[in-house]
Amino acid sequence: MTPLRILILAHPDLVPPDNMAELSEEEAYVWKTEYDVMKTLRDAGHEVSMLGVQTELAPIRDAVENWKPNIVFNLLEEFHGETLYAQNVVGLLELLRVPYTGCNPRGLMLARGKDLSKKLLKYHRVPVPAFAVFPMGMKVRRPARLKFPLIVKSLWEDASLGIAQASIVDTDEKLAERVAFIHKRLNTPAIAEEFIEGREIYVGCLGNDRLQVLPVWELSFSNLAEGSHAIATEKVKHDPIYQEKRGILQGPAENLPANVVTKIRTLAKRICHTLELDGYCRIDFRLSKDNVPYFIEANPNPEIAESQEFAQAAQHASISYSDLLNKIVTLGLKRAGVEV
Ligand SMILES: Nc1ncnc2c1ncn2[C@@H]1O[C@H](COP(=O)(O)OP(=O)(O)O)[C@@H](O)[C@H]1O
Ligand SMILES: [Mg+2]
Repeated sequence: MTPLRILILAHPDLVPPDNMAELSEEEAYVWKTEYDVMKTLRDAGHEVSMLGVQTELAPIRDAVENWKPNIVFNLLEEFHGETLYAQNVVGLLELLRVPYTGCNPRGLMLARGKDLSKKLLKYHRVPVPAFAVFPMGMKVRRPARLKFPLIVKSLWEDASLGIAQASIVDTDEKLAERVAFIHKRLNTPAIAEEFIEGREIYVGCLGNDRLQVLPVWELSFSNLAEGSHAIATEKVKHDPIYQEKRGILQGPAENLPANVVTKIRTLAKRICHTLELDGYCRIDFRLSKDNVPYFIEANPNPEIAESQEFAQAAQHASISYSDLLNKIVTLGLKRAGVEV
């Protein structure tokens, strides 16, 4: 690939410090995605500049107009601290007519709402857990069709914010308590979904119109505490010491019947198309005991540190990390009609 000028957009707190290479793995953990992307693109010969943005739009416009990047590598997940605004920054990049990596703003919007995405997918015959939404300031009344156990989550926050063992509830009283917790702690509506007991399955997809589906991946829990449910809580996702203690591993999903693998891959593609996702995304399922893959959520622009699920699944499909980032860049350029 010919060397490009690449502008990485990231949260200002996530712009890696200059001494990154000297830090221990634990110290460097928070910046791992940004550092991996920056370093790998530089090592591949690109000219890379990283811009931390969160409250001001002018620096984005200035950098695009003055530095003239060939493409913006979008690692931004929020603006003004709001997850819901992330799509608007991509909207700005569209309006500035600068190519960018990852998902378009419509896809970001359709995937964001854990209710909206499920409504659209149900129409397209994708199995989804039954759910109900509990807006802020309204009394919690469970529809009779919604059976316990349920899992209570924020309607649109991600990174497992607010997800703990206590998210799984089996009485109306606990449901009301957990909904109140989400309202108060995350300041968003809550969604309660039928809890799907089973395996945690992730599927990475790469592409705009034609999709490449990465190997079916699994998060497994080999040493859970007595009585705990195997779910990706905040601690499971973000605490390396806890991960080690609880034997939390990610890797290729093993011993799946071939027809189940085919089903999961077909559903993943249908989900990407229905939700208008492009670039790269990860679709999350729970595979029930009777092997029905239930859609849990779509993650456009999933985390892509080299050690994380998406990049690991790519590596398993013989796509090196450097090739993966180059592919993501190429997809952004192609969508913008740039010859590559
Ligand atoms: N309906 C469900 N049934 C079983 N587990 C669920 C369900 N919804 C969420 N989970 C568990 O909670 C985790 C986080 O939920 P998710 O909706 O993906 O939120 P986030 O956007 O924060 O990642 C999932 O990875 C899964 O382990
Ligand atoms: Mg998730």
